[in-house]
Amino acid sequence: MTFDIRPATAQEMGQLGLMGAYSYGGAFGDGPNNKVATGTRPEWTLCAFDPERIQADGQATMATSFSAFPFTTRVNGRGVAMAGISTVGTRPEYRRRGLVRQIITRAFAQQRERGQSVAGLWASQAAIYQRYGFAPAGGLREYNVDTSDINLLDQGEEPIVQRFDGVEALDAVRQIYKEFIAQRTGYLHRSKSLWLNNVLAPPTEDGPVYVAVVGSQTAPTGYLVYTLRAHRVAHKSRGQEIRVRDFAWLDKTAYTALWRYLARHDLVGRVVWNTAPVDDPAPDIFVEPRMLHTHDLEGTWWRLVDAPAALAQRGYDVEGSLVLRIAEDDLAPWNVGSWRVEYGPEGAEVITTHGAADVTVSIRALSSLYSGHSSARHLANARLIDVTDETALARFDQMLRTRFAPHCPDHY
Ligand SMILES: CC(C)(COP(=O)(O)OP(=O)(O)OC[C@H]1O[C@@H](n2cnc3c(N)ncnc32)[C@H](O)[C@@H]1OP(=O)(O)O)[C@@H](O)C(=O)NCCC(=O)NCCS
Repeated sequence: MTFDIRPATAQEMGQLGLMGAYSYGGAFGDGPNNKVATGTRPEWTLCAFDPERIQADGQATMATSFSAFPFTTRVNGRGVAMAGISTVGTRPEYRRRGLVRQIITRAFAQQRERGQSVAGLWASQAAIYQRYGFAPAGGLREYNVDTSDINLLDQGEEPIVQRFDGVEALDAVRQIYKEFIAQRTGYLHRSKSLWLNNVLAPPTEDGPVYVAVVGSQTAPTGYLVYTLRAHRVAHKSRGQEIRVRDFAWLDKTAYTALWRYLARHDLVGRVVWNTAPVDDPAPDIFVEPRMLHTHDLEGTWWRLVDAPAALAQRGYDVEGSLVLRIAEDDLAPWNVGSWRVEYGPEGAEVITTHGAADVTVSIRALSSLYSGHSSARHLANARLIDVTDETALARFDQMLRTRFAPHCPDHY
């Protein structure tokens, strides 16, 4: 059977919505106009259609849905164009025929042409994407803490913290977020619609969306986006629950002020923040860190689509030069070869070379190192990369380190 692989038309977006409804079990809505369909544009999709199975309205049946948001992400202080893959699903009757493999092969070539050197996604199952070279790019940390257990080592200053309703504080919040993510890795440049559809999305069963802002509206230094709801905790006097949706700060004073703000919610028996970065400093400032009830979860996955371009675009903290070899890449053959990377805080240049390689890596290992999720030392200890000698390993290890642990709090 031959399938047509092409973007969906505007008229076919209802089918995309229904594919998403089925694949995700209704998590984003059931009807054809659910969040899956309305949050995506036809030109961002690449789907498979069965031309022999025509529906009542004359449309060919969508067998596989696939889309990629044109995002920009941060990588150690620099912006990198990223394809945010989403809406991946094949109707059960067409599964295991290689449709996703065909689509992803074509999508990588398109993404490279569009200058998207990295692909990112949230995996429903790691097994689906590891075979395509995707590697973890950070984690999610969950805290689950009773407000009566929020006691900090350092009481510090008491700046003003003011509460606003939902989008009322959007300008202040955007300003802080932009500065907060500048040196970090994995965070997305959030468009206004991403703010409105994700972090500030209208009330859910968790309660209305509130925003606490530290400092003045013109010079804010931190914020917390959260919901608050009663009857969530089995506690005689503190039955309310706060769910933190987003938390950003520019200095320690703002960070501690926001935890103290949470602590003053005497009727709240549980604060849940399940999108914290793994290097979040709460355990360093809590008197009893174990009362955070920390739990680590999987985060996003990245794959270098255009490895030389991605390496040239990312930020580096040290200066140096290294030749790395990518021996094979079936899905993105343009990555194969030896690449000399001249890197430094001012930028990087990547050129093809016939010189001897210092390091040989798989595309999956390089994708994991690129975000700073793994270190070269760790992968070399596990014999997952080949390094000529100890000096090359030390250089490679330093080269790809990131200032912060990679992290993406936005689900897409
Ligand atoms: C995952 C899914 C999209 C795969 O679609 P598909 O068209 O069957 O994919 P393919 O036939 O191209 O399979 C791709 C590869 O992944 C493997 N694979 C597919 N689903 C898998 C699974 N659940 N676990 C392990 N391996 C899987 C296949 O064996 C195949 O391997 P190969 O390319 O080495 O031969 C489909 O099963 C689906 O819709 N699942 C439910 C929704 C979902 O999980 N979507 C992903 C959201 S992030």
